[in-house]
Amino acid sequence: MGQASRPGCAILASIMMTDTATRDTTRDMTGRFYVTTPIYYVNGAPHIGHAYTSIAADIVARFNRLSGKDVFFLTGTDEHGQKVEQAAQAAGEAPQAFTDRISADFRSVADAMNISYDDFIRTTDPRHKAGAQALWEKVAANGDIYLGAYEGWYALRDEAFYSEDEITTRPDGTKVAPTGAPVEWMQEPSYFFKLSAYQDRLLELYETHPEFIGPAGSRNEIVSFVKQGLRDLSVSRTSFRWGVPVPGDSDHVMYVWFDALANYLTALGYPDQNAPRMAFWPANLHMVGKDIARFHAVYWPAFLMAAGIDVPARIFSNGWWTVEGEKMSKSVGNVIDPRDLVAEFGLDPVRFFLIREVPFGGDSDLSRRSLINRMNVELANDLGNLGQRTLSLIARNCGGALPAQGARTAEDNHLLAQASLLPDIMTQQISRVALTEALEEVWKLIRACNAYIDHQAPWALKKTDPERMAAVLRVLADALRIIATVLQPYMPGSMDRMLTQLGVEPGERHFAALDTPLPAGRALPKPEGIFPRFVEPEAETAK
Ligand code: ME8
Ligand code: MG
Repeated sequence: MGQASRPGCAILASIMMTDTATRDTTRDMTGRFYVTTPIYYVNGAPHIGHAYTSIAADIVARFNRLSGKDVFFLTGTDEHGQKVEQAAQAAGEAPQAFTDRISADFRSVADAMNISYDDFIRTTDPRHKAGAQALWEKVAANGDIYLGAYEGWYALRDEAFYSEDEITTRPDGTKVAPTGAPVEWMQEPSYFFKLSAYQDRLLELYETHPEFIGPAGSRNEIVSFVKQGLRDLSVSRTSFRWGVPVPGDSDHVMYVWFDALANYLTALGYPDQNAPRMAFWPANLHMVGKDIARFHAVYWPAFLMAAGIDVPARIFSNGWWTVEGEKMSKSVGNVIDPRDLVAEFGLDPVRFFLIREVPFGGDSDLSRRSLINRMNVELANDLGNLGQRTLSLIARNCGGALPAQGARTAEDNHLLAQASLLPDIMTQQISRVALTEALEEVWKLIRACNAYIDHQAPWALKKTDPERMAAVLRVLADALRIIATVLQPYMPGSMDRMLTQLGVEPGERHFAALDTPLPAGRALPKPEGIFPRFVEPEAETAK
């Protein structure tokens, strides 16, 4: 079933082997793939930024499933810490009732966005708390946790500590972190993790596994941060109660990032080495936003090294979304609930836009005009029309049944060759998390199909050469089948409909099935448009 056993992919197999580190390749051969989203803080409502990272991870998860991998895809919520405790207080609720409510809302957004997660972990789950404590004990047993006193700058908004040289003073006297979050001077007894002892091993990890952090900009930032020297990290707090108690010292709760990062292991059943899901460790990909790359690429591997656990294969951070040129914020009132966008534009156009708009990894702006433009040009015109033209000609001129493959011209062969290379090219791109590039590759083929249909003009062949007309329509149906198959991870609902219209059975929708042509004569359902043009409501009523 796996990619490697497919005939016809030998050419690209060699490219794939040289592109990824040996370690990744070995993992690929296990046939397992573990991908995660961040677990989101429940101190605020879910918005489009959260949905974005989850959609990106979902595409990777779905793509690997179609490749025949055994995939485990995790998402969830981060429910401890002072920020959440304060948000619950402000809402006049007990912390657990508050987090139950907001966590359920995050889950409903994941469902509304068609995120195909296999598990939803909550850090208030008993399984998580026990696992996080076990991880702590393991690190402590290794001698890497000691009791001291914390004195320094802390930004509540980021739940992060900053060193003196990172702090700047604003004209009004407030001190802020590089993220702009206000910091306060903190003094309290605290357990420390010996992060300083891991500088060399971390640098070695980045050096020997350049794919460990992506994209390149994020990698450079992390490497230079670690090169500047690492200070031990305060990993417990005594000034509030809403957290996982430190094993053996219940005056302390764990620093929320120690607790949170552990989720990637606790969801697998850690510390139970016999838990079946533990076979998914180490994770293949932690998908995160660039704001939290440091926690994942520095703290997390150091905690794991201290616990004697393998580190994940890759941390990839996405860029930042603004809305109509502005930073999303409650005070500006421009925080976008992804469910509102879906209600107006439909789910798949939104998923498509978010990944298409900017090369994945870069910052991006959510503009209504740009979203509508991409819907109308790339979805309705390029892909929607191609499907509609091909399928309605088959319905009208071929008795609604899939035509047989005919004698092929050089042009036919050229188009089909381009199409058949697509899954392997995309596999290589998706393994680098080049989600937008992979999508561009599909659009190259869609544009080639549109040029082909215009040039072949099958509608004109009906009278002159019906045999050739049928052959042309079959070439198009075969190319469309590949297009719809590889686009499933991006737009699962719409591609499900397109594949149904193309006569592709549910069991024929994974990549390996593409090697088997569909039987001629298969009855196709009546074609229906999949990507309608979006017309502004005002424009509609003005008509
Ligand atoms: O940081 N653009 O949770 P969080 C793009 N609990 N992505 C965005 C975004 C935006 N404007 N806003 C949010 C936390 N995100 C921790 C994580 S993981 C062990 C713990 C996405 O609720 C992006 O992925 O603040 C970012 O990293 C994440 O949401 C932060 O979510
Ligand atoms: Mg945040």
